Amino acid sequence: MTASAELRRRYVEELVGDGLISDPDVVRAFGVVPREEFVGSGFHAGGDRWAGPTDPDFLTMVYRNHPLVTKIVDGVPVSSSSQPSLMAAMIEGLGLRPGTRVLEIGVGTGYNAALMATMGARVTAVDIAPDVVDRARAALARVGLADVVDVRLGDGYLGEPANAPYDGVIVTVGLTGVSPRWLDQLAPGGFVLAPVEHAGNHPVLRVRPGGSGVGEARGLLRAGFMSAAGPLAARYPEAFPEPRRAGEFPEPTVWHPARWRTPLDVFRYHDLWFAVGAWDRRATFAAGPAGGWGGPGGCVLLDEVNGGGAGLLADGSVRAAGPQAGRYAAEVLALRDRWVARGRPEISAWSARLIPAGDPDRPILVPTGWIQC
Ligand SMILES: C[S@@+](CC[C@H](N)C(=O)[O-])C[C@H]1O[C@@H](n2cnc3c(N)ncnc32)[C@H](O)[C@@H]1O
Repeated sequence: MTASAELRRRYVEELVGDGLISDPDVVRAFGVVPREEFVGSGFHAGGDRWAGPTDPDFLTMVYRNHPLVTKIVDGVPVSSSSQPSLMAAMIEGLGLRPGTRVLEIGVGTGYNAALMATMGARVTAVDIAPDVVDRARAALARVGLADVVDVRLGDGYLGEPANAPYDGVIVTVGLTGVSPRWLDQLAPGGFVLAPVEHAGNHPVLRVRPGGSGVGEARGLLRAGFMSAAGPLAARYPEAFPEPRRAGEFPEPTVWHPARWRTPLDVFRYHDLWFAVGAWDRRATFAAGPAGGWGGPGGCVLLDEVNGGGAGLLADGSVRAAGPQAGRYAAEVLALRDRWVARGRPEISAWSARLIPAGDPDRPILVPTGWIQC
């Protein structure tokens, strides 16, 4: 067995052992496709380091459950191979069968497209960046999938009418709203899986045409994605506030103690965070200094008028800052307790209708009026 095959075997074993992949066809695909072929131009390995195939620990880093950033422009990551467990969850969410027609928005390295094609899906994959498209095509050719995945250069907003209709659209880049073109290009019964901005995160939503709006969205899973270019990332008046970077949220002046002795795990915390965003459009992410705010940051209700606001930590404690700190703290405490009173709903318990927003010439469909279903 080659070093790559052995590391891949252990990587799959760990993903399965940790409960991150369960569908046997997805397990098989992860066991077959060599991820290193898709990151041959290297990736960001922390600090100033760019890791490449000549580095002794290259394969070890490739076969971890980590995203690999493969392109950075002006200090901002713009392309990557997404986190394997997230890819697995989204692919499982698509319910692929041999012959399923899939449109992927954001081909990136091509690894996700290769996994889906290995499962027998007919994949069309679009990316906005010409160099990314060239590299993905070359990688797919190296693993013998050039004829199976149709990689197109273009703005994913437009979808790809040439190969429509699709049974599923999978979006692997963060959006503020869904393109109506994707809904038009779906076959009957088809749906879109897309990470749509919600309270400073990009949880994956399952979107279907119809319902009481242009379409309906349902929460699927928590996720983090880099943001799309173009109309897919348009701002609109009711959009959630942009996430706040470290140092942008002031030092807290008001504290409320923990609600839970054992803090919520990351999944439950994101369930709480999603609910806060479903009830209040002031919710977003704020990174925090290591001191008063605590840890890497999390969910805040932002006071955009006066500055500051209130942050909610995983143990249910609250830190608030700014001239309205007391009021914001009380509001976020009420939202926390409402989540508990409602039976601590998970992300998948929420649904919303979609309405048009953004540029009227290139509208996006944004979820509005989240309700527990
Ligand atoms: C996280 S990467 C995708 C990961 C990829 N699926 C993989 O398996 O490696 C996001 C990609 O979306 C692309 N992108 C950003 N905005 C886009 C847009 N409007 N249309 C199409 N692709 C876009 C970026 O160029 C980048 O390659």
